[in-house]
Amino acid sequence: MWAAGPRQAPMAANPAVPFSPIAADVLNGLSSTPKRLPPRLFYDDAGSALFEQITKLPEYYLTRTERAIFEQHGTEIVEAAAGQGALTMVELGAGSAEKTGVLIDRALRRNLALTYEPVDVSRAALSSAASQLAARWPELPVRPLAADYANGFRLVPNGAHRRLVLWIGSSMGNFEHTEVVRILRNVRRHLHAGEGLLVGADLAPGKSKQVDVVRAAYNDRSGVTARFNLNLLARINRELGGNFDLAAFRHVAEWNPQASAMQIYVQSVRAQQVAIRALGLRVRFLAGERIHTENSYKYAPRQLAAILRSAGFEPRQGWHDERKWFAVMLARAA
Ligand code: TRP
Repeated sequence: MWAAGPRQAPMAANPAVPFSPIAADVLNGLSSTPKRLPPRLFYDDAGSALFEQITKLPEYYLTRTERAIFEQHGTEIVEAAAGQGALTMVELGAGSAEKTGVLIDRALRRNLALTYEPVDVSRAALSSAASQLAARWPELPVRPLAADYANGFRLVPNGAHRRLVLWIGSSMGNFEHTEVVRILRNVRRHLHAGEGLLVGADLAPGKSKQVDVVRAAYNDRSGVTARFNLNLLARINRELGGNFDLAAFRHVAEWNPQASAMQIYVQSVRAQQVAIRALGLRVRFLAGERIHTENSYKYAPRQLAAILRSAGFEPRQGWHDERKWFAVMLARAA
């Protein structure tokens, strides 16, 4: 196990650094071979602000393309999901709920009785989303739920409302396929047959989208994505008393055609040792050694439909932008 990488030397923990919720993730990930850090660590306040900037980069087409699909087809999407009845939208990983506003707007324009239930791990994100929504639509019932949807959660029925679970923003792309199916099966278990699921997924490069377009989305010229990725190390310095020298690591994002994924790493530019005081850990890096921080899977439409089916959903309708770069798919609990 240890042969593939350098050994980690123990060190006395510093009791002055308080216990941190990220301690176990960092200890496990940096003691593993190969090294990894889970993507949920990206989203502290600094990381969330950087991600907001990513969504506005010229190279990062995902957010604005999905939004354009909602703007163009939103009415059709909510009508297909609700029929003429009442609708409850449950959004997994709602974050700022910015794009969902387009769907909420379309539902309210159709006079659908609508309730919105954002689910997110971040209470800060939930309360700021709730107050933004309240300012824009004072009459809209919002029922936030603080939960990590990847680790199991309950969906509660809402009277006669038909429910539509939203898993948009290419979020499923950040999970392994087996994880995606596990999460969707849990969702399916809480739904009645006929209730809906809407997923937003980035499409695999091919005839419609060059690989370079995808690469550039994770390697922007202004370096915001690099700062976002390296913020993981900055966060370990801040919260765990680490001494990562950010100038000695670089952002790497590569297209892996076998996996159909962008694979994202932080790479050590030279052999070095880093101390993390709160963990009593010294981590050695070889020159060029990487920490794997994220995968972003890109799907063929057929593959997306197959994943939904294997989780107990029947795909009903799909939409994409004019360039066929991004897809939104509506499915029903079978
Ligand atoms: N969910 C986003 C995506 O996969 C997250 C993301 C965008 C990201 N850019 C990144 C994650 C760069 C790590 C590094 O598209």
